[in-house]
Amino acid sequence: MRVYLDNAATTPLDPEVVNSMTDVLSNYYGNPSAQHSIGRSAKGILETSRRKIAEIIGASSSEIIFTSGGTEADNLAIRCSVNDLGIQNIITSPIEHHAVLSTIEELDAKGLAKHHLVNISAKGEIDLAHLEELASKYPGSLICIMHANNELGTMADLKAISEIAKKHNCLFHSDTVQTMGHFDIKVNEIGLDFLACSAHKFNGPKGVGFLYIRNNHKLKPLFTGGGQEKNMRAGTENIPGIVGLAKALEVSTAIMKEKREKLMALKSLMMELIQNEIPGVTFNGVTDPDKSLYTVLNVSIPENNANEMLLFKLDIEGVCASGGSACSSGASKGSHVLAAINHPEERTGLRFSFGKYTTEDEIRYAVEKLKKVLSE
Ligand SMILES: Cc1ncc(COP(=O)(O)O)c(C=O)c1O
Repeated sequence: MRVYLDNAATTPLDPEVVNSMTDVLSNYYGNPSAQHSIGRSAKGILETSRRKIAEIIGASSSEIIFTSGGTEADNLAIRCSVNDLGIQNIITSPIEHHAVLSTIEELDAKGLAKHHLVNISAKGEIDLAHLEELASKYPGSLICIMHANNELGTMADLKAISEIAKKHNCLFHSDTVQTMGHFDIKVNEIGLDFLACSAHKFNGPKGVGFLYIRNNHKLKPLFTGGGQEKNMRAGTENIPGIVGLAKALEVSTAIMKEKREKLMALKSLMMELIQNEIPGVTFNGVTDPDKSLYTVLNVSIPENNANEMLLFKLDIEGVCASGGSACSSGASKGSHVLAAINHPEERTGLRFSFGKYTTEDEIRYAVEKLKKVLSE
């Protein structure tokens, strides 16, 4: 048996998505910038995909810029805000994904924008009072706070953050890579300026995503070249990927309620089994299934001889999990997120993450193998 519990790193493709992409790969090879009919039909499916996505997040089509994924979308929002919107201060959290944090740190190191870290709780929750203090000290900043943390599953109250942003004339970018397709996100209800999305976290293809940019923000592209994506992102569009992204978001949105109920129950079951079977475990981050990312469970394993090789041993037993951030999945290397919540060094943070294909049998199997590996 092989059990895949690393869905926060990436998810398997949905067959419906594969079909939609295969059709494009076979039949829509035109360059969407071309004037002729074959180019125009590719342009047609590009714009249909954009419309579908815009509708799902309550945006207008002109506010969606396709990118190569979450990393590029985060970079675009942050770097262009500094380059083109006069942002001089960035308020962020110490547990953002490296796509956000490393970008901000680099801008700071180059003297282009100062960054200020908001306090977080031991569960990774944003200290909203401190955020307000920073926003009032640095009005007109860019606030970058992710919707849900990819390692802990702790979620931020985007609406509350957006209200703080507005009050202090700040812009608000949220990395919603872990929540898009799993939660109903409406950009106007929340009041976002930018939002980053990546298709491969909700059964879509890798290497494609989008950035939502509120219409009134006029940014210049990061890459120079052609005038694609309304001059915001040069390069011939990845039409099969974009169609796959739109299809994956459509399918995820249609099944969101059932998926949420099913995965909340599986997360609760796994917590219960682990607590009953493995002495000394605790859980990192907020774990209430209805208040956290229902796809992520971060288990804090007490000191054990097996810890160093835990992921490897679990893999040999047929269980794929992760011990670092999604992007360094597979390697049990140091995590800036666990460091920021002061997770004791002698304990190991083991992340199980679920997807729509996860079953109860798989959860039971994984806990049984975890128990075996830890008792060896
Ligand atoms: C929260 C978060 N942001 C950004 C990314 C990067 O997305 P991509 O892999 O599409 O570049 C990831 C991927 O793990 C993520 O979990």
